[in-house]
Amino acid sequence: MSRFRNMCLVTGTADPQLAEAIAKCLDVDLTNAEVSRFPDGEINVKINSDVRGSDAFIIQSTCPPVNDNLMEILILIDTLKRASADRITAVIPYYGYARKDRKDEGRVPITAKLTANLLERAGADRVMTIDLHASQIQGFFDIPVDHLYGSPVFLDCFSRLKLKKLTVLATDAGASKRAQAYARLFGGELAIIDKRRVGPDKIEVANVIGELEGREVIIIDDMISTGGSICEAARIANEKGADRLFLAATHPVLCGEAINRLKKAPVEKIFISDTIPVDINDFDGKIEILSVAPLLSEAIKRVHMNMSVSSIFEQAN
Ligand code: R5P
Repeated sequence: MSRFRNMCLVTGTADPQLAEAIAKCLDVDLTNAEVSRFPDGEINVKINSDVRGSDAFIIQSTCPPVNDNLMEILILIDTLKRASADRITAVIPYYGYARKDRKDEGRVPITAKLTANLLERAGADRVMTIDLHASQIQGFFDIPVDHLYGSPVFLDCFSRLKLKKLTVLATDAGASKRAQAYARLFGGELAIIDKRRVGPDKIEVANVIGELEGREVIIIDDMISTGGSICEAARIANEKGADRLFLAATHPVLCGEAINRLKKAPVEKIFISDTIPVDINDFDGKIEILSVAPLLSEAIKRVHMNMSVSSIFEQAN
């Protein structure tokens, strides 16, 4: 019998391994839920045990294939709602479709808001996620959002580096708040790259604010998508005379040229988390994957037991 009465953990197909790791940390079994496809590709779900009155947590990142993973989570929510779960929390370690969070030109969508509407309308009562692309996306929901910081996940490995001349470098102004939090946490300085995006996978760098020469530099970003931003930042830091260089990003989307760029990047080590499953070979230990399972399981436990979630971060931020 689980020590958490009525807790039900369900996973979609985005990353069953992470869901298993979370279940293991919580010492509960994953609820047997089958997510399959009809011959025409439509998604079908069947939950094979009674979930009536349960406190249900669906673990599913909306990572690539983003449309399938998003649709799966919506259908899982619908299934649990119709099976009379008491409360449904969508645990979305990586919240996709987040980059379009405002109308910055005419005739474009706000997909971060559309996704929030879809999750709510499907029947989610709460959302839990890590390092949103922009924290104001929380306000797109009219239900509680537990927005977790990825920083505790990186804490140990950064401390292990014992950096004495640390500068945390933000890849753009948008990343500067996160970088500032890391700089404060590890007692380092802050530097910012003045980046402009000139195409979906093309960026143009104008200036660097802050000192990089002779510094031990950790370049921080919320995600590595094509790797353009973070690898360009590494190239610049190297050119500006950084002593040692590390990359860290919460969400390894790793599409397009990312793998090739990361392999060539002039850095000692790349730290990423497992909010998105990655299959990485040939990196000779250059990449270290840190698990968010302990963080998510602690937050799930606290939500389930009506305990504070923000106090997890009192040390880390
Ligand atoms: C930008 O605003 C984000 O924080 C990331 O820097 C960006 O999405 C990463 O994309 P890419 O790896 O394709 O440069």
